[in-house]
Amino acid sequence: MPAPLKKLPPAVTALLLQFAAFALTMLGVRLSGLQSSPLIFALLCGLLAAAFTYFAGLARWWLPIQLLFAPALVAMLALNIPPDVFLVAFLILLAVYWSTFRTQVPLYLSSNKVWRALEGFLPDAKTGFRFIDLGSGLGGVLTHLARAQPDGYYSGVESAPLPFLWSWLRIKLGGYRNCNVQWGSIWDDNLAACNLAQYDVVFAYLSPVPMERLWRKARAEMRPGTIFISSTFAVPGQSPHETVQMDDLHRSTLLIWRM
Ligand SMILES: C[S@@+](CC[C@H](N)C(=O)[O-])C[C@H]1O[C@@H](n2cnc3c(N)ncnc32)[C@H](O)[C@@H]1O
Repeated sequence: MPAPLKKLPPAVTALLLQFAAFALTMLGVRLSGLQSSPLIFALLCGLLAAAFTYFAGLARWWLPIQLLFAPALVAMLALNIPPDVFLVAFLILLAVYWSTFRTQVPLYLSSNKVWRALEGFLPDAKTGFRFIDLGSGLGGVLTHLARAQPDGYYSGVESAPLPFLWSWLRIKLGGYRNCNVQWGSIWDDNLAACNLAQYDVVFAYLSPVPMERLWRKARAEMRPGTIFISSTFAVPGQSPHETVQMDDLHRSTLLIWRM
């Protein structure tokens, strides 16, 4: 990827490439004097944007997004949907994916099979162990484990407002006394829950982007003998002590380190 683009979040790079594709398509249409329908114009923009994205070296999954963005825009406009619908949809998406732009960690949920596999890594002592889900999403991991092994105490930290609110209500309305979730970032040193020294098991299902930083935090803060589990995403240069391949829809793998 060209050096100036490397410094930008991928979403901004993708948007800039869309603008470049639009400008170039517009120039091409003007110079050639051809008349094109809005959909053909949008398809040309999409093709160019996808090509630019490929050469800019963005992750592969950006290609279909870049290809379909302008045609989808034209198709949606043709449907004459009232603008309020877009505003409401935008606000809901903003509340769910609030921090994704910064963190590059979207919301997607662990499967029931992962929840059950995690049970096997909880200390079986009745001494009140502590577990944290870093980026706890809708709170499914926490509430499942709190039911399955009520001797433990389960914490979550979630930065996106709507998933946080959902999980908070789920915990309160479900009457889970051994569970709590906090709104904030896992990198916030002022948030007491984010100090990993207090946990016996630390679980994270994030994305490849924060794994190196998370590993440094885990190494610095976790106590010897405690367990760090990453679902699916490896830590560069650090082989796990154990892996568990899940037979679920995402083909998740649990990577386990004993600190
Ligand atoms: C892939 S989801 C996993 C949800 C849940 N842990 C599960 O396994 O079902 C990752 C979650 O982490 C949250 N997240 C990402 N970066 C975060 C951060 N820096 N601090 C707190 N939460 C974060 C996202 O909003 C998202 O809800």
